[in-house]
Amino acid sequence: MHDFRYENGELFCESVRVRDIAKKVGTPFYVYSYKTVIDHFEKLKQAFRPVKPIICFSVKANSNLSVLRSLVKAGSGLDIVSGGELFRAKQVKCPSSKIVYAGVGKTVDEIMAAIRAKILLFNVESAPELARIQRIAYLMGKKVNVSLRINPAIDPETHDHIATGKKESKFGLEMEEADRIFENADQYPNVSLCGVHVHIGSQIVSGEPFVRALRKVMIFILNLEKKGHKIKYLNLGGGMGIVYSDEHPQTADEYAKKILPLIRRGRYQVILEPGRFIVGNAGIFVTRVVYIKKTQSKNFAIVDGGMNDLIRPAFYGSFHDVWPLVKDGRAQKIVYDVVGPICESSDFLAKNRLLQELDAGDEIALASAGAYGFSMSSNYNARPRVCEVFVHGSKFEIVRRRETYQDLIRGEKVPAWLK
Ligand code: LLP
Repeated sequence: MHDFRYENGELFCESVRVRDIAKKVGTPFYVYSYKTVIDHFEKLKQAFRPVKPIICFSVKANSNLSVLRSLVKAGSGLDIVSGGELFRAKQVKCPSSKIVYAGVGKTVDEIMAAIRAKILLFNVESAPELARIQRIAYLMGKKVNVSLRINPAIDPETHDHIATGKKESKFGLEMEEADRIFENADQYPNVSLCGVHVHIGSQIVSGEPFVRALRKVMIFILNLEKKGHKIKYLNLGGGMGIVYSDEHPQTADEYAKKILPLIRRGRYQVILEPGRFIVGNAGIFVTRVVYIKKTQSKNFAIVDGGMNDLIRPAFYGSFHDVWPLVKDGRAQKIVYDVVGPICESSDFLAKNRLLQELDAGDEIALASAGAYGFSMSSNYNARPRVCEVFVHGSKFEIVRRRETYQDLIRGEKVPAWLK
């Protein structure tokens, strides 16, 4: 599942002692395992081998250039949602024929940049967006591929903030409307309406919601085909859940076994957009205890990493396991809240955890932080963003340096009249 493990009580990432990284780069930091990233990519690729999918890693989950480049080199494409992600995709030389672009708010500039980059597909989420793409493609003298993102109106049984396929969600098109758009396809002469896209949410641990959504989508596609429309691309989105604590998510094989029978093999080019499944368990966030603070009701381990670095616990109440970098089997166990230095009550990384007794200076890791960790981090409280480290076998390298205070004020200025 991943390449983090203890050896003689010390936490290793592949063959690197995580404490050695901490010594070199200081805390806090993210560390990713190359091997885990690639293993997960290969697992999914193998599981879906019968349909030879284009796997487009979802850049938003982890947009570090080295992570992206590793995946692109292994044959992955990229799922992007902004001009910035397109820029990143170009930096890692992702073939344009493997870039798909989703998102409800694509701007004129972003659409133009994506057309210029000759991406494979726009995943379109509304009629006004399609009209705009048509207009821009016309002005640029181009014809572009479009998939309509369908909102299948099902409950993906995950955290509300990351459910996207519900009826009331802002994502995708209602089927009736998508149907109408296909019917009026000739209104979009610079668009080839050649695909259907569905992404119902994230961290979905059972196959059922995917199956329910895909059934609806397949009926939708069959209807379109009956009316003479040609659907070439079937984009199943991402959303596969991973283990954070005691979940039992479907494996790639189990997922494929449920999904593949619903697809008429060879008829469509299948696209997958996994994010978390590839990188979630390939990364950890390492932080150091600054103080232990005991109150009448709590033991706080106050650490140097905060919600600006890893916002998932504060934002979604998500669980990340806590791993001390050095395990002491004889230490007594104490219940802690692991909290950051940020001035917000929601600034916690872990709550009510029974951990080995901690002291100031001890290092701990928050597990399963490779997805939506660094990519959601910010400079809140004027905190420089942490560095990212990439491990490959027995070697590690800083692949994004820690920000400096100068980085914090880059681009800012005080107007002359205030000086
Ligand atoms: N495709 C589309 C259109 C998406 O919106 C997403 C994620 C993915 C693919 C990748 O989903 P994944 O395989 O990673 O589940 N920040 C939240 C997760 C937000 C997911 C947004 N969309 C979190 O930390 O849990």
